[in-house]
Amino acid sequence: MSNQDYRQEYETRRRLIDQQLETLFTDSCPQQTLLEAMRYSLLAGGKRIRPVLCLAFCTLTGGRDEEAVPFACGIELLHTYSLIHDDLPCMDDDDLRRGVPTCHKKFGETTAVLAGDALQAAAFRLVLSADCDGQAKSDAALRLARAAGEMGMCGGQYLDTEQVHDTAEALYEVHRLKTGALLRASCAMGVLASGGHRPVDPGALDAAEEYAEHLGIAFQIRDDLLDETASTEVLGKPAGSDRAGGKTTFATLLGADECRRLVESHTEKAKEALSLKYPDAGFLFWMADYLAGREN
Ligand code: IPE
Ligand code: IPE
Ligand code: MG
Ligand code: MG
Ligand code: MG
Repeated sequence: MSNQDYRQEYETRRRLIDQQLETLFTDSCPQQTLLEAMRYSLLAGGKRIRPVLCLAFCTLTGGRDEEAVPFACGIELLHTYSLIHDDLPCMDDDDLRRGVPTCHKKFGETTAVLAGDALQAAAFRLVLSADCDGQAKSDAALRLARAAGEMGMCGGQYLDTEQVHDTAEALYEVHRLKTGALLRASCAMGVLASGGHRPVDPGALDAAEEYAEHLGIAFQIRDDLLDETASTEVLGKPAGSDRAGGKTTFATLLGADECRRLVESHTEKAKEALSLKYPDAGFLFWMADYLAGREN
């Protein structure tokens, strides 16, 4: 398969997710504006990498993309909630997200906080409503809860905003939690979806998590680097936000060249984590390279 074919595969998966997300939160009700705010942030674009990884792992481990769609959409809802809250004035205080004004800029802080909260709840509703084996659903929901909570994304966001990190080791830990945890859950939940009607191979879960571990580090280091080097227009979020907010990031701590080297080495480690058990995981190798070189 060529890079062009993998790019096509990515777009097909992304479309499948977008079509499903489009159907959500369309009820007419007195809290219409809250639903509008949820849809506004959810449907503003986004690379959809977490749900795409979830679908890809489902197919890699013996299932079909379609079987993982409810888990994948749940993950994207949870991720969108994390972005809405990340942009709030009490956190990164950013005005632009996915190329449009942030949720609180458009709808006000109260609505933005509630839109995030409701997206998180809806994420679990989707996972637990999936049409698959009860054990697979509860394992998936448990993983998502761990990844979202105080030992996962929220824990990382807390450390990111509340403490100064002046060593690479400390920053690794923040990245592992704030970004890595949800990526690990995304890949593992794809494996769980493939086992929806079959026993799950523990070796497959280990391989998925190790891949995601390195992907997550590479992903956030690239994000830190792009904050320094890319334009607001291309990023769809404010360039230079980290430095303006006085953040220590991999880019401010180690410089651009070292960031590029680290992204490359973690990308290679991510691919190695899969290559022994899944030498044919071409799409996931391509995803790792694509994310390492992405411009937004
Ligand atoms: C942004 O995530 C937040 C980070 C963890 C760096 P993405 O770069 O995946 O954002 P979208 O979903 O494409 O907007
Ligand atoms: C946020 O990291 C990670 C989340 C859990 C949302 P950043 O603060 O660097 O993400 P961006 O750059 O605003 O997307
Ligand atoms: Mg942040
Ligand atoms: Mg931010
Ligand atoms: Mg960032």
